[in-house]
Amino acid sequence: MRAACEHCAMPPLTYASYLDLEKLLTLQKPRSTPPEHDEMLFIIIHQTYELWFKQLLHEFEKIKEDFSAGDLFGAIHSFKRVRTIMKTLVAQLDILETMTPSSFSSFRDRLETASGFQSVQFREIEFVLGYKRQSTLAYVKPDFPGTDRLQQLLNEQTVIDHFYDFLATRGAQIPADLNNRDLLQPNEPNGHVQKEILRLYQSAPEVSILFELMTDFDEGLQEWRYRHIKLVERTIGAKHGTGGSPGVPFLKESLFKPVFHDLWAIRHQM
Ligand code: HEM
Repeated sequence: MRAACEHCAMPPLTYASYLDLEKLLTLQKPRSTPPEHDEMLFIIIHQTYELWFKQLLHEFEKIKEDFSAGDLFGAIHSFKRVRTIMKTLVAQLDILETMTPSSFSSFRDRLETASGFQSVQFREIEFVLGYKRQSTLAYVKPDFPGTDRLQQLLNEQTVIDHFYDFLATRGAQIPADLNNRDLLQPNEPNGHVQKEILRLYQSAPEVSILFELMTDFDEGLQEWRYRHIKLVERTIGAKHGTGGSPGVPFLKESLFKPVFHDLWAIRHQM
């Protein structure tokens, strides 16, 4: 084992100190009295999701750079990773589904108005992927941690805008109005882009690997939405959400909506 640093008198790094475990493992604070067994699971699952959301956002920043630099292999590598994280996020819902409706009811009141609806990082993921619904900002209070980043992402180019740069490095003609689009708006499907993607599918098999990985990720995100709705339906049925929405009917609004529209729109032409 390495000795303590002579110059700075710091103790040697350990597993626990590197990961700041002392802090991390005291962050689970159930509120129910008397304690309800399943509340610990509820907290740990949500915290785990937020950690993976953080990692996804970290990867999307790299993907944007890879795209604008025309780095196909860098983007393939990162899309493999985000797709795999997405699959893990879907699978984790199985664990929470071991909690029965009555078990959840036993501590649900203690959540007050807290809801995944207020997850700033989830909105960041939507915004960075071009699904910019400004209406969702109404549920994010200015003092929530991360709102500055969210506001910044609303004003920034999305993964799809950088994807247009990537397509241009592969000879695609990107319409000028897409390069100068209003960044506050969501990315929309575009017929010209679809034609260029179709051409690349047919002429550049290495690029089609990237397109398929992007489609995998997108399908994973839609799968998460579907599984989350089913979890909500089986746990609270027709009740309203703690975040104040009508619950299941609200969640269904974004069901089956892809983020990479152009990759889905052309599939019947291949
Ligand atoms: C018993 C478990 C759960 C229930 C009953 C539940 C319920 C709900 C409901 C009713 C909504 C709609 C907003 C509202 O009015 O509150 C919602 C939204 C949301 N929940 Fe959950 N949820 C559960 C687990 C989770 C988990 C594990 C996550 C993981 C992070 C999560 C993340 C989200 C997100 C991100 C939204 C916003 C979705 C959107 O705006 O499209 N939820 N949830």
